[in-house]
Amino acid sequence: MATRNKAKSKAAAKKSAKKVVKLPAKKPAAKTAHKNGVPRPSSKPSTRPSTKPWGQAGRALDGVRVLDFTHVQSGPTCTQLLAFMGADVIKVERPGVGDVTRGQLRDVKGADSLYFTMLNGSKRSITLDSKHPKGKEILERLVKECDVLVENFAPGALDRMGLTFAHIHKLNPRMIVASVKGFGPGPYEDCKVYENVALCAGGSASTTGFRDGPPLVTGAQIGDSGTGLHLALGIVTALYQRTRTGRGQKVLCAMQDGVLNLARVKLRDQQRLKHGPLAEYSQYGEGIAFGKATPRAGNDSGGGQPGWILKCKGWESDPDAYVYFITQAPVWGEICDLIGKPEWKTDPDFATPPARLPRLRKIFDTIEQWTMTKSKFEVMDICNQHDIPVGPILSMKEIAEEQSLRATGTVVEVDHPRRGPYLTVGNPIKLSDSPPDVRRSPLLGEHTDEVLREVLRYSANEIGEIKASGAISAADKKAEAA
Ligand code: COA
Repeated sequence: MATRNKAKSKAAAKKSAKKVVKLPAKKPAAKTAHKNGVPRPSSKPSTRPSTKPWGQAGRALDGVRVLDFTHVQSGPTCTQLLAFMGADVIKVERPGVGDVTRGQLRDVKGADSLYFTMLNGSKRSITLDSKHPKGKEILERLVKECDVLVENFAPGALDRMGLTFAHIHKLNPRMIVASVKGFGPGPYEDCKVYENVALCAGGSASTTGFRDGPPLVTGAQIGDSGTGLHLALGIVTALYQRTRTGRGQKVLCAMQDGVLNLARVKLRDQQRLKHGPLAEYSQYGEGIAFGKATPRAGNDSGGGQPGWILKCKGWESDPDAYVYFITQAPVWGEICDLIGKPEWKTDPDFATPPARLPRLRKIFDTIEQWTMTKSKFEVMDICNQHDIPVGPILSMKEIAEEQSLRATGTVVEVDHPRRGPYLTVGNPIKLSDSPPDVRRSPLLGEHTDEVLREVLRYSANEIGEIKASGAISAADKKAEAA
């Protein structure tokens, strides 16, 4: 493509050299939209580089307003990330009830649960009954004022509220409508889905666990938070495309797809099975035949460098006194010296990676005799001096107390009016010119008045009428019903 363009411009240059034609002065590009209302795409950057120091020129998503219609985990993860990046995220919740997670796994009486608070930081909350006529009117006004609508209701719920994509697009052609669903179009598209269903349907569970045990779900919520992360990427990409096209679009992330994307190495192994056994799986060395599908690999390494979880000093009483040890080929000599097996460096049974593959069990048992004499942190310190890749198994207690994670803003302590200080996970994506905005989660409806007044520009009288209508408060609804 580039070469073709080059050739074209060369030819054009030749042609123009022959005959000098005086062209009329070029008119400046019109700033107005062209006939179908779509702004003209510009090939030139619209702004000059900021003169402000790094980190003081605002946040990456400043000016982006998100109508957050999400609940539980997958959607809220996505909108929280957008909020950390500077978007104004307005969470719309059912009056009196809110996101169901506010009350789930509650640890402090009368306070929003950690389930909710850790997924909804840095957002504003307004309560709104989307099925109430006045509520619908406010919702439509919000649609007009926002850039992105994010939702993860059960399939069809948004349409049942009257918010079909066609209707939203009519109200606001620039609106990006982003959804998480359990499955994409197909036989299961109407199903409700939670994390573990997605882990099973996306190929994670069948490939996690030990060969002789049942499939396992993971601690990492790759179905929920993983899909939220995918959706956030879809949204910012759509926002970027909108700068060219001037119009919004639908963004859909199915949880099954998100899990499969993260489990793609297992689909890789499925295809490799056609060409013979998977030699890096320890079952190969144990002489156990492979079946038709990618098996569960226990703690085998997912890549080409064999690894395993090994006991460390104190394992008898500490369930996390373990280390992940990788026998990376280039440092095999160092490993042999460390564990007191220098003869393995030249022994034909151990000297090369292919020779080692059928003997992984024996190798790791031997390394474990060495790791069991040290704490997991000692193993880490010693191995790092030799560039041997190892990872201590950190408990959540150790992570919560880890000062380096506090220093980088990956673990942040925020204060909450009802529950006091709590730890949350900050933005794991670090941008050098966009400092993260990590704040506590909002109380239910904390910003209803503020949003009605400042974002939707309702007058004090109108807000009074809205309150009386029962569209934003559960108490008023009860009064209305009485
Ligand atoms: N005012 C009035 N009604 C509201 C409302 C508001 N502010 N906000 C939501 N609702 C209503 C919706 O309109 C819908 O009602 P309807 O079914 O009568 O149309 C209902 O509340 C939401 O229902 P639903 O999404 O079905 O909730 P659920 O608790 O039954 O199911 C899930 C939860 C997660 C299983 C389901 O939402 C789902 O499958 N989501 C997609 C996949 C997903 O994200 N899963 C991961 C969750 S972590």
